[in-house]
Amino acid sequence: MADTTLMDKLVSLCKRRGFVFQSSEIYGGLGSVWDYGPLGVALKRNIKDRWWNSMVHGRDDIEGLDAAILMHPKVWEASGHVAGFTDPLVDCRHCKNRFRADDPRIKGTPGQPDAQCPVCGTRGSLTEPRMFNLMFKTFMGPVEDSAAVVYLRPETAQGIYVNYLNVLQSSRQRIPFGIAQIGKAFRNEITPGNFIFRTREFEQMEMQFFVQPGTDAEWFERWREWRMQWHHSLGLTPAKLQWHQHSGSELAHYARAAFDIQYEFPFGWQEIEGIHNRGDFDLGRHQEYSGKKLEYFDQAQNQRYLPFIVETSAGADRVTLTLLVDAYREEQVEGETRVVLGLHPAVAPIKTGVFPLVKKDGMPEIAATLYHELRQEFACFYDDSGAIGRRYRRMDEAGTPFGVTVDGDTITARTVTVRHRDTMQQERVGLDRVRQYIVDRLGATR
Ligand code: GAP
Repeated sequence: MADTTLMDKLVSLCKRRGFVFQSSEIYGGLGSVWDYGPLGVALKRNIKDRWWNSMVHGRDDIEGLDAAILMHPKVWEASGHVAGFTDPLVDCRHCKNRFRADDPRIKGTPGQPDAQCPVCGTRGSLTEPRMFNLMFKTFMGPVEDSAAVVYLRPETAQGIYVNYLNVLQSSRQRIPFGIAQIGKAFRNEITPGNFIFRTREFEQMEMQFFVQPGTDAEWFERWREWRMQWHHSLGLTPAKLQWHQHSGSELAHYARAAFDIQYEFPFGWQEIEGIHNRGDFDLGRHQEYSGKKLEYFDQAQNQRYLPFIVETSAGADRVTLTLLVDAYREEQVEGETRVVLGLHPAVAPIKTGVFPLVKKDGMPEIAATLYHELRQEFACFYDDSGAIGRRYRRMDEAGTPFGVTVDGDTITARTVTVRHRDTMQQERVGLDRVRQYIVDRLGATR
């Protein structure tokens, strides 16, 4: 299967099965903004829940936070985003398209007569690069003047830094400790694309870990290991995950060290999460710009210091795309193509399909009762329409790991058929045991 074909097939499956729709589709769509349908929202929620559980519920040293999207404009001056969160941009005077100055499709040097527009092919029509800030601006209050300008946050991290003392004092944590947050972020990307990989509105799952200076390198290594383990726990193909270390020129202005976790997408190796040693850059800047002391007093050591920060920053939409890409496969079964999303049961939007083989002989009644029993425990889907093979295929495409069929033997022997998505093997399980059977196989992943 050609790689670009895989992305096309995935986009089409996502629409057909209700994972992801283009935003405002009936109006022609909005560039690089996407909506999650019933299966997509469940998949993304399962990913976020797993992240939250591993960070907040699973540890004593991390607290949760949900800071507002709108923040004081000075936050973005302190963070460096007003001055530096920019990409070089060029316009084509002829076709009016806009590109990043380093777009590999541009031939020649933008601003020079030899430069060629990659869309209309005109020579000499590209402007000199100019810096373009990626933050979305809006206005607070009724007066649209510059005093009222606010930004849609381009990362969730700053909400954590400005609340660090509030969380520290209210939770009675001590350093080392972390703050985790999941929330929307917005970037006016010049070249978004590849479906939900790079979008203008997206969700981040960020955790900032506050440590004593001098212990940061050690914590950085620990967090690198834990974060890679987490991606493995989602069932991603290990050979398709790798580290990318940022060289000096790649390092963001705040970072002392940075590693990306990359996944091998059909469009190449790309970042899905960044782990950064941010030193005391953030708290130092907020202390300077706000005039408020943000130091930590270490009672045991009778020492005052500005903590260093180790950040783990993952995109919920990127991880969703990663799981979809990794899970998609096609198989030939009895002369037909079977499309399967081999999602890990932990993240599968639906855990079990429930089917009466036929709509008679008491089967629908038993199946409906079973469905209502199972859905108390995990996400289920009841389907009584069409041939049973078709119903199985629909669940395969949705990534549902189990299918339970109520058939003739259920009436006579009180057993059902449990079908496994990946192997397509079927086994008989007692009707009164089926709930426990699936719970055991989902384990702690529900
Ligand atoms: N606070 C650090 C920070 O925001 P980043 O590398 O710019 O670092 C972190 O972003 C993660 O957020 C990325 O690894 C990616 O998963 C996600 N992300 C960033 N920009 C995105 C976009 N335009 N669309 C979707 N996800 C994005």
